[in-house]
Amino acid sequence: MKLCMIGTGYVGLVSGVCFADLGNEVICVDQNLKKIESLSKGHIPIYEPGLTELVVKNYNSKRLKFSTNLKKSIKDSDLIFICVGTPTKKGGSSADLSQVFKVAKEISLSLNKYKIIVTKSTVPVSTGDEIEKILSKRHNKNKFSIVSNPEFLREGEAIRDFIYPDRIVVGSNDKKSNRQMNNLYAPLISKGAQYIHTSRRSAELIKYASNAFLATKITFINEIANLCEKTGINVEDISIGMGLDKRIGSRFLRAGPAYGGSCFPKDTKAIISTADKFKTNLSVIKSVIKSNENRSNLLLNKIYKILNNKIRNKKITFLGVTFKANTDDMRDSSSLIMIPALSKKGAKIRYFDPTGFKREFSKIRNVTNSKSIKESISGSDLVIIHTEWNDFKSINFKNLNKGKKFIIYDMRNIYTPAKIRKQGYRYFSIGR
Ligand code: UGA
Repeated sequence: MKLCMIGTGYVGLVSGVCFADLGNEVICVDQNLKKIESLSKGHIPIYEPGLTELVVKNYNSKRLKFSTNLKKSIKDSDLIFICVGTPTKKGGSSADLSQVFKVAKEISLSLNKYKIIVTKSTVPVSTGDEIEKILSKRHNKNKFSIVSNPEFLREGEAIRDFIYPDRIVVGSNDKKSNRQMNNLYAPLISKGAQYIHTSRRSAELIKYASNAFLATKITFINEIANLCEKTGINVEDISIGMGLDKRIGSRFLRAGPAYGGSCFPKDTKAIISTADKFKTNLSVIKSVIKSNENRSNLLLNKIYKILNNKIRNKKITFLGVTFKANTDDMRDSSSLIMIPALSKKGAKIRYFDPTGFKREFSKIRNVTNSKSIKESISGSDLVIIHTEWNDFKSINFKNLNKGKKFIIYDMRNIYTPAKIRKQGYRYFSIGR
């Protein structure tokens, strides 16, 4: 099939490349000329394991193309995927759909034959209806179908998540588009992926409800971890004990810092805003947002307590600053709250992240980037393990810092408390 992916951000690029790898002809379009030029040279703007190799392979085999010519790309394709950003509106909480509607208008202007227009971007309930209205102004309804096919990829695991999805959700209000979408996904369905067809609005809501539920699960265990700390209980035991109940499941029960990233914070806010529009109170999700927003301050207060409230001139190391491992994404990472707050109190901060320097901290006083774990820890008073990169999972602390002991605050519960304490370190973790 001939596919056009509009927007080469995370969703558009990963799914475009994966569709090409399944044997489709895919053209990825973006208005950013520089990005398209560098993609054509095999330079990938994001850190995602395995992505570069897959782009180069499919580009060389000519199944994958990059272009800035939106009109021609639309005309040449049968299926058009809208993959542009839907960030939180400035000064508000709802999703900013301006890019989606702009693209819908462009598609309408270039519609030369029957096409399926698919939203892969995360869009609120009834966005498909709005896109349909835009297209209907110029075209008869039998010239197009509007489909919702939300993406459930995780950053850092995106290619595996695409190839082995838990489910493929397709929402459309007609049979013809469903048949073609089913054909498109046939190679994954034949390998066991579940394909479910729903109404378009249902598919839109499945995406938000899934992200909001996962955010709730994490927030739930984070609050239980707070209780564990006060009662001498190990939260890991609670996660295992709860997770073995098949109705609950063990995934997303890892306590840690506030959840972040480009999706959970934005999507939880947006679903509240949609519910407000339809006069429904999603009180559980509202308290999840509040609890998660408080979490960075809660962990900051713990840092102050660990350091006896003497923060000035304390040397603090952050191991990992991205919102999770295997990504260079800094969006809504809790380090963006913690590092500036500690700097304001006079701490001297060094950070090491496997994805390197972060411009987000370049203007913050007394924050420097280190090139290695060793360099970042040298002379440190407190080492905070913020992100669960494999690089931090078997550090030989004894060989660092010339034998000088420092305090460790392991926010990802990577190490076993008794073992580390036996080596003479003051060690703190989450919920244990
Ligand atoms: C999330 C969803 O997991 C994907 O299914 C979805 O497609 C994506 O959003 C999206 O809407 O595009 P992602 O943001 O890449 O994916 O990251 P996750 O792996 O879900 O992690 C999100 C946050 O939760 C991170 O801050 C992570 O550290 C935290 N987390 C996750 C925990 O604190 N504990 C856990 O047990 C799991």
